[in-house]
Amino acid sequence: MPHDMDGVFVRVGGEWYYPPKFPDDAPLHSDGYISAFRIKNGKVSFRGRYVETPRFRANLAEGRQQFGNYRNPFTHDEKVRGLDATVANTAPLAHAGMLFALKEDALPYRIDPATLGTIGPHDFGGNYRSETFTAHPKIDPVSGEMLTFGYEATGLLSDDLFYYVIDRNGTVTREVRLKVPYVSVVHDWAVTQDHVLFTFGGYTTSMERLREGKVHWGWDKTKPSMVGIMPRDGDAKDLRWFRGPERCMMHTLNAVSEGDKVTLYAPFYDSNFFPFFTNVDGSPWDPSKARCFFRKLTFDLSSSSDTWEEEILFPQQVGDLAKMDHRFLTQPARYAFTFFSDPTKPFDEERAGNLRGRVSNSYGRFDMHTGEVESYFVGDTHTLQECSFVPRRGSTEEGDGYLIGTTSNLAELRTELVIVDAQRVSEGELARVILPFRGGPQVHGAWYDAEELPGLVEMPVGEGVVRADHAEAARYDANLFNGSGEGSDD
Ligand SMILES: [Fe+2]
Repeated sequence: MPHDMDGVFVRVGGEWYYPPKFPDDAPLHSDGYISAFRIKNGKVSFRGRYVETPRFRANLAEGRQQFGNYRNPFTHDEKVRGLDATVANTAPLAHAGMLFALKEDALPYRIDPATLGTIGPHDFGGNYRSETFTAHPKIDPVSGEMLTFGYEATGLLSDDLFYYVIDRNGTVTREVRLKVPYVSVVHDWAVTQDHVLFTFGGYTTSMERLREGKVHWGWDKTKPSMVGIMPRDGDAKDLRWFRGPERCMMHTLNAVSEGDKVTLYAPFYDSNFFPFFTNVDGSPWDPSKARCFFRKLTFDLSSSSDTWEEEILFPQQVGDLAKMDHRFLTQPARYAFTFFSDPTKPFDEERAGNLRGRVSNSYGRFDMHTGEVESYFVGDTHTLQECSFVPRRGSTEEGDGYLIGTTSNLAELRTELVIVDAQRVSEGELARVILPFRGGPQVHGAWYDAEELPGLVEMPVGEGVVRADHAEAARYDANLFNGSGEGSDD
């Protein structure tokens, strides 16, 4: 375990506390769960809790699921229709010394970093007026400001998108009210030193489909992909929309402005990635089109063209939850890091089930300068979640640090944490932390140095704390499975 790491790896994901009310509800509607690996002096502790949203508390009080399909209030029990139905299940955020769990359909939910207890929704002193807040705000590494936005900003199906700048102290310094060309999932976006870019495509919704009881989004392949570009100090009149071919634009990596040229680097899918957001034309979901590649989109602001040039940067498919050295966000950067499925690596079907080809068994360091991919293989019974980049303390070189992330051990049905040297990923992990249980789900995770989150607990030791190493975990398993019962006291 690297001894220079002092901070916390926070993960947010969704886990059904009560089963969904309807069988075809989207997994994205599962209850928010926040968990954290606190790392200090080479030791690790783990904690996880549900985010106590109004929905979670209302369900707990009734002892059952009262909320229907994804972001469709018409399908919720009448008694709970007026409640904030968010599940806060997408991403963590630390800013201005505060920790939040985010989901794009509501305000951020503030979390106590020491206990992971839920404090409640946060509107930045009443100055953040959108009803919603993206799961992907951007921290400008130059100014320390947070740039953020909310779509469906004035309520269900509204075409309002509000853009905000929030300074390093958590004060809202700027609000711009914008309109989108059609209401869609504006899940992620990108910022440069000069511009902001709003990216979406394909997913649509309507009052008609909500009244029919469907989940909020469907996929309409006739809808263009859209990128709206606005100067950071601009206004609604300066927002320019570009249109492109069918694309599923969920996550971005980075963007850079150089004069009139804006370049967006993003792992976008060819088409609909989510089977549960069904195609509006009734055609079946096509897994062959849910292919993701690192793409480079180039926009020429001096031209009258309303589209962009697209280039695929690496021939292999990648997982779209990609990370970079965030100290270089908005600037030309060399490295991208993400998980992917390497079909040349072995998979132990006997121990881990019939998942060959469907596991993310590798992290890659993708070198934008040379086109080289250096990879780390996690093992033949494992699948990886999104990694996060941890800068090495004291270093300023891009990509100098660690990758940290969790992996599911599919043979033993528990969670492990791996730490890899980001400059030498092919040399294997520096550390692996084996939880003797399943550690909760993750959509997104992020590493925060202790200085960024005042109030982190010191490393707890002693009673009630599970301590595990490989040998201990193996003994635990052996005891569990031979029926002795020993180990279960942990
Ligand atoms: Fe996301």
